[in-house]
Amino acid sequence: MIDARLAELYEQHRSLNRFQGNPETLYAAMQYIMDLGGKRIRPQLVLMAAESAGAQAELALELAHAVEVFHNFSLVHDDIMDQADRRRGQATVHKNWDEPTAILAGDNMLVAAYDAVFRYRGPQQAEALALFSKTAREVCEGQQKDMDFAQMNGVSIADYLRMIEQKTAVLLGCALQLGAMSANANSEVAQGFYRAGCALGLSFQMIDDYLDSFGQEAATGKRLGGDIAEGKKTWLYLSSQAISSEVEKLFDQYQEDERIDRVRALWIQQGLDKGLLELAEHYHQLANQEWKSLQMEGCDTQALESLSDWLLGRTH
Ligand code: IPE
Ligand code: IPE
Ligand code: MG
Ligand code: MG
Ligand code: MG
Repeated sequence: MIDARLAELYEQHRSLNRFQGNPETLYAAMQYIMDLGGKRIRPQLVLMAAESAGAQAELALELAHAVEVFHNFSLVHDDIMDQADRRRGQATVHKNWDEPTAILAGDNMLVAAYDAVFRYRGPQQAEALALFSKTAREVCEGQQKDMDFAQMNGVSIADYLRMIEQKTAVLLGCALQLGAMSANANSEVAQGFYRAGCALGLSFQMIDDYLDSFGQEAATGKRLGGDIAEGKKTWLYLSSQAISSEVEKLFDQYQEDERIDRVRALWIQQGLDKGLLELAEHYHQLANQEWKSLQMEGCDTQALESLSDWLLGRTH
């Protein structure tokens, strides 16, 4: 479950760090995506890990903000790349304004994310900065692969797993490790948090992929079947291709809504909707093992376990 106390703490911090400046359009676009909401799970992870490893959550607020601003930056650019019109139930930044504004709003948010890292005043500042940069680089690499794979044949399940690890999972790992660093955790504990976040992040992206094909638009706030429309090489696509060539035929024959309907029906018939949830559950269990190990190291991981349970069953 989301911790309401930590959510409120982060919201207060965010309200003191609004994007404002000239040209107004640029800053309005940046503030727009931040105000659209979202689950805010990354700042939750930073703050929970901080408390779990023995710090005051307040000390980690700038790191929590850095990660959330970075995440929102990546979404603004992701929606251009994925040609997505809707996000969190509203128009995406490039639809509400235009692509140049969305590119620049994203760029400026990346800068703002680094500003937040530099404002952090707790332990292990240099290490936190290095981790943030390594993670940001990997997200770019994962996002490039996501795009490349859509045009490629011969993508394997292992390629997919590595791609989602880079584009999504490492940022959850980073969030948790940053929290642990603010508690000046030793490297064994810090790495335990990182591993937990990576496992959780794989499960998280699998649920995101599941919801993209089998969720409710009213809940996700994103277009149903966007991945199918864009030809993404998800586990669903790759597993279907391993069963038969039917999915490739549907992709060749149909476009847009017709393709989405037919492909969704095929995947359900092939049992892949349930299969993907089982795979997500598997990575969720791996994260649980990491929580248990961290508990042995003296961390209180109860809130984190409850958050990861909630994430597995989420509908948005
Ligand atoms: C969406 O992330 C992009 C992925 C990495 C799957 P979230 O599902 O955390 O998006 P918001 O912030 O809650 O809208
Ligand atoms: C996005 O993955 C990952 C990043 C933004 C780095 P998706 O493209 O699946 O995310 P959604 O579904 O648009 O939120
Ligand atoms: Mg994408
Ligand atoms: Mg997308
Ligand atoms: Mg998605």
